[in-house]
Amino acid sequence: MSPSETTPGSARESALVATVGGGLIGRSWTALFLAAGHSVAVFDPDPAIEARVHHEVEQAWPVLTRLGLASGPGPTGELRFTRDAPEAVDGAMFVQESIPERLPLKHALYAEIEDALLPGAIVSTSASGLTLGELQAGWRDPSRFVLGHPFNPPHLIPLVEVMGNDRTATGVVDRARAFYEAAGKVTIEVRREVPGHVANRLQAALWREAVSLVNEGVVTVADVDRAVSSGPGLRWAVMGPNQVFNLGGDERGLAAYCEHFADSYHAWWDGLGNPRLDEATVSRLVEGVRQVVGDTPYAELTARRDALLTAVVAATHPQTAR
Ligand SMILES: NC(=O)c1ccc[n+]([C@@H]2O[C@H](COP(=O)([O-])OP(=O)(O)OC[C@H]3O[C@@H](n4cnc5c(N)ncnc54)[C@H](O)[C@@H]3O)[C@@H](O)[C@H]2O)c1
Repeated sequence: MSPSETTPGSARESALVATVGGGLIGRSWTALFLAAGHSVAVFDPDPAIEARVHHEVEQAWPVLTRLGLASGPGPTGELRFTRDAPEAVDGAMFVQESIPERLPLKHALYAEIEDALLPGAIVSTSASGLTLGELQAGWRDPSRFVLGHPFNPPHLIPLVEVMGNDRTATGVVDRARAFYEAAGKVTIEVRREVPGHVANRLQAALWREAVSLVNEGVVTVADVDRAVSSGPGLRWAVMGPNQVFNLGGDERGLAAYCEHFADSYHAWWDGLGNPRLDEATVSRLVEGVRQVVGDTPYAELTARRDALLTAVVAATHPQTAR
């Protein structure tokens, strides 16, 4: 195996990582990669991004430290900025692309950086909605290009969904997963292309019914949110739905649970709502959320979320602490 085919940045080995796009997602990735001991080159056409990335790293560092993902008073790797994408990826072993979710922009960027990449470099896209196949069309050679889809904020939520396909070189998905895991993430592999990948589809399924229940007057916006965060949401932070229901079947496990409840689930599934986010629905949801959060500033809401999430992640994912 040549040096270019080892896991980029494995076992806390410091390597240059490029963050292409330093917006909401890119700057959180940058903080995580710095915590993992990498030097990070950030590309963003917006000159205001440099200050925002520095601010994010400063804000995220205590959280990353609490999670065991960062050590020391601050990053040891170098953090540099450029408004030239090929310059950012030059020498990088791993490139995380987080530019806006617009196919022509992503294709133009790939065309711009392709010749500047190291031969063994992996490029991973944060794309939420675009499919790997659509994105691959922007590459002459997509063999080292994967999906590495995070959850906001990536430095805090452990999950990364990784995907390649038959156009991906052997071992590249495994190397990408190893890279993320060395930085403290939990990865899953998406094995077949479906819109929204896996976790967003799960969120969409739940939200669909939450919106429908509000539209049908079964429950208020405030209460449907409480029903998740004070109910099953707590269990889902600890284990997935299959394991939850495995414990719902007593000592006889999931088979007994299914035997007991199959008819109920079939009736519930058959009756699930099919709402649309039309004007009336959106104003109902917005008004419902406004009644809960009032005029609390966005920064205060995210700070509260992150403080609680940090405690939950620290308790449920000790394996992220290296
Ligand atoms: N927002 C989320 O919750 C979330 C979650 C997971 C994945 N994602 C994905 O991450 C990616 C980035 O999303 P975001 O929310 O960080 O977006 P954003 O708009 O906050 O940031 C995008 C950044 O890319 C920069 N950029 C780089 N190249 C550009 C170009 N050629 N044209 C215009 N801007 C350019 C912009 O200046 C901006 O700073 C998207 O693919 C999105 O689907 C987003």
